[in-house]
Amino acid sequence: MKTVLEDIVPSKEESKILNMAADHFIKKLNSELKNAKAIIGGSVAKNTFLKGDYDIDIFVQFDKEHYKNKDISEILHGKLKKIYKSAAKISGLHKVHGSRDYFQVRQDPFTFEIVPILKIANAKEAENITDISPLHTEWVRQHAHLADEMRLTKAFCKANKIYGAESYIRGFSGYTLEILTAAHGSFENLMKAASRWKPGTRIDVKNHGVKKLNKSKISPLIVIDPVQPDRNTAAALSEKKFNEFISLAKEFLHNPSPKFFKQVKFDLDRIKSASILRVIPLQGKEDLVGSKLIKCMEYIHRKLKEEGYEVTEYDWHWDNKEAYFWYFAKNKNLPLEKKHYGPPVKEKKHLEEFMKKYSHYPMKDDGARVYVELKRKHTNINNFLKDLVEKDSYIREKVKEIKIL
Ligand code: CTP
Ligand code: MG
Repeated sequence: MKTVLEDIVPSKEESKILNMAADHFIKKLNSELKNAKAIIGGSVAKNTFLKGDYDIDIFVQFDKEHYKNKDISEILHGKLKKIYKSAAKISGLHKVHGSRDYFQVRQDPFTFEIVPILKIANAKEAENITDISPLHTEWVRQHAHLADEMRLTKAFCKANKIYGAESYIRGFSGYTLEILTAAHGSFENLMKAASRWKPGTRIDVKNHGVKKLNKSKISPLIVIDPVQPDRNTAAALSEKKFNEFISLAKEFLHNPSPKFFKQVKFDLDRIKSASILRVIPLQGKEDLVGSKLIKCMEYIHRKLKEEGYEVTEYDWHWDNKEAYFWYFAKNKNLPLEKKHYGPPVKEKKHLEEFMKKYSHYPMKDDGARVYVELKRKHTNINNFLKDLVEKDSYIREKVKEIKIL
C-alpha cells in the first residue's frame, strides 16, 4: 500500500503550491467583498484531494442578514468580472448554470470553482444544498488523521469508474466516500464491510437513528449525512455501481494489489476489436451533455440487441472534446433473413393488422408466435451502426457529431 500512497498523495511541494494559489485567489476576492467572505472548500479544504488534481473549490459565504432575497450569484459575478477585467483574463471566467449559478475560472494548471452560498450555522437553515458544504468540510476535518485512507478510497473508486454522483455517472461522491471511510476507520476495513453489503445497507456514522427519509432518497446504500440526518448522501447511487463496489471489494480482499488504484489510460488500441464510435458532444453544462451521451450509448446498445447482435461488453470514454463508445459483440455478422415477430396470437385485432401489413410475405409460425422473414439492410455490425448513427434522429439530437471508426 506504500507504493500506492506515493502515487495518490500529493507531495508537500504540490500541496503547498495548490494552497498558495488558493490563498492568493481568496485574498484578491475578499478585498472586493463586503459582508461576505470567500473560504476554501471541497477536497482542498478537507485535505483529501488526489495527486495531480488541480480543481480548487472556493465558497463565498454571504451574510444572511445582508443578502436575504438578493441574487448572490449575480453579485458574485459582478465582483469576478471586475477582478478579471482588470487582469485582462475575462476569457477564463465562465458561468455555470445550476440550482444556483456558480463560476469557473481557469488559470492553468488550476481550475477554480467559485460557489456563492449563504452563511449558515446549521443544515436546517440552508436554502440551497451548496450552503451546507462548509459543514461537510468541518465534519471531515474532524477525521483529519484518516485523510490518506480517504484518498485510498477515492482513488480506488476513480480507477474503477464508480467515482462521482453526477447524473451521468451515478456513483459515489467524494463526501460519501469520506463518510464511509470514517465510519469503518480505514480503507481496508471499509473493503471488509462492503464485501458483506446487501441492498438496503444503512451507514449511520453519527447514530442519528432511524429518521424517515424521503422516498426519492432511497438507494441501494443509505449513508446518513452526519450533518443532516434526513439526507442520504448516496441517494444518486445506482444499483449497478453499488454492485460493482461490492465485487471490487471482494476482489481486492482476495488479492490486494496496486492495480486496483491505477487509472487505466484510455487507449484505442486496447479496444480495436470492438465496434467503435467517435463522438463530438454538444456544448453546455457537463451534467447535461454527459447524460445525453450516456442515453445515446445505451440507446445504441438497445438497437444492437434488437437487431440480434449479442453485445458482451460496452463502455465509453469522455474527455470534454470528444467521446468514444465501444461495443464488443459475439457475432459481427448476421444472416440476411431476419425473423420479424407478430403480436401474440390471442391479440386478435393486433394480429389482423400484422397480417394485413405483411400480406405480401409468407406467414410462418414457430408454435408460439407468427412471423415473417424480412431481409436485413445490413448484415454487418459496423454497417448497421454507420447507417443507424447517420439517420436516427434520437441519436443525432443528443450529440454534435457521431461517426463509426
Ligand atoms: N457535494 C455534495 N454532494 C455532491 C457533490 C458535492 O455534498 N453530490 C459538496 C461536498 O460538500 C463537496 C463539495 O460539494 O465537498 C465540493 O464538491 P466536489 O468538488 O465534487 O467534491 P470534493 O469533495 O471536492 O472532491 P474532489 O476531490 O473530487 O473534487
Ligand atoms: Mg472538488
